[in-house]
Amino acid sequence: MKVLLIGSGGREHALAWKIAQSPRLTQLFAAPGNPGIADHATLVTLDVENHDAVIAFTKENAIDFVIVGPEAPLVAGLADDLHAAGIATFGPSKAAAQLEGSKGFTKDLCARYDIPTGAYQRFRSAEPAKAYVREQGAPIVIKADGLAAGKGVTVAMTEAEALSAIDDCFDGAFGAAGAEVVVEAFLDGEEASFFCLSDGKTALALATAQDHKRVGDGDTGPNTGGMGAYSPAPVMTPDMVERTMKEIIEPTIKGMAKDGNPFSGVFFAGLMITKKGPELIEYNVRFGDPECQVLMMRLKSDLLPILYATATGTLDQVTAEWRDDAALTVVLASKGYPASYEKNTPIAHIPDAREDAKVFHAGTALKDGKLVATGGRVLNVTAFGATVTEAQSRAYAMAAEVKWDNGFSRSDIGWQAVAREKAR
Ligand code: AMP
Ligand code: GLY
Repeated sequence: MKVLLIGSGGREHALAWKIAQSPRLTQLFAAPGNPGIADHATLVTLDVENHDAVIAFTKENAIDFVIVGPEAPLVAGLADDLHAAGIATFGPSKAAAQLEGSKGFTKDLCARYDIPTGAYQRFRSAEPAKAYVREQGAPIVIKADGLAAGKGVTVAMTEAEALSAIDDCFDGAFGAAGAEVVVEAFLDGEEASFFCLSDGKTALALATAQDHKRVGDGDTGPNTGGMGAYSPAPVMTPDMVERTMKEIIEPTIKGMAKDGNPFSGVFFAGLMITKKGPELIEYNVRFGDPECQVLMMRLKSDLLPILYATATGTLDQVTAEWRDDAALTVVLASKGYPASYEKNTPIAHIPDAREDAKVFHAGTALKDGKLVATGGRVLNVTAFGATVTEAQSRAYAMAAEVKWDNGFSRSDIGWQAVAREKAR
């Protein structure tokens, strides 16, 4: 099978690394890819926003299957256009990608199909939103409706904070994404991420993970795209996974199909495990970054036929086997991230992959043959262990061997699971 992978982050490096191990693969292309992905794929320069150019490339190169990594091309309808051109594609349609593209869309779906989530209201102007906040009181959560690169959510502990977040949204802090606002009840509990494939009819549960959104140790400082993750998430017991499938994923699959937007791709469900059980915080319609890196390390099965079955409506014919080990990834980011940071700083050394650990590339590039950091999140040092504690110590030992002066990481990735393991 000839495959084209769209994307350039650590997520796509992990996908490329895993797909390259498939006996079914004949050739892998990545657009645009990165220097880590180049170890497993032929990199191609393609304007992903130009769907005709992507389709032309797939025809010229007899591509059998396209895998879309990030959300933006999905929300822009790349999967629809590839399907219309007769090319099997992993990733949901534009209509189904609204699950990530519009928080209001997802909340309305939850309300229609009785999926547990925080009570909410949608607003198109500030005054009624503020009146609702005054009526409900704090803590309360204010969300820009659209894609805001993970920055459109304010968990307001006071009413004043909530009111000013509403002003920010309607004053254009998040551009068009903030033209509509969702005000949502605060959910108290432990967060977990749940990954599950669907071909529109069948579901295949993958695995669980926990990430670390804040930039600083002890979960302090501003939000980021994620500073590290581990899998599995201890809070997701077999009972919790079963309830999530029954109460959240299955009604979503049925509801989306009933509404005429069947969902094909990966559900990345952000959950809050409250006293009542799993409640949905949000859906993403692609693999998490860096959650994908730990998932790919733990997946024993061949990924390629699983993704192909998802895209072609035959998910009931495949299964996924997982290693029992924990996997943990530490993000090395450019100093200053998530605010501004220096670009093109040299990375002098990255240790080679070992049996139990590997470094994935995210924001790297080659400049005059030398490896440099070009992004905020740059490297993902990922390791296995019999426990999260062991995976953590291997990942940090490997991270210490990276020679990159402008890099930093959190020093406590996995702390919740490590504390749980200590208490045992
Ligand atoms: P989101 O972009 O929807 O994932 O939200 C970002 C973060 O805000 C989540 O990971 C949660 O930590 C927090 N959050 C979102 N919605 C709620 C909620 N209803 N209650 C408590 N925390 C929330
Ligand atoms: N790590 C969170 C995300 O991929 O959205």
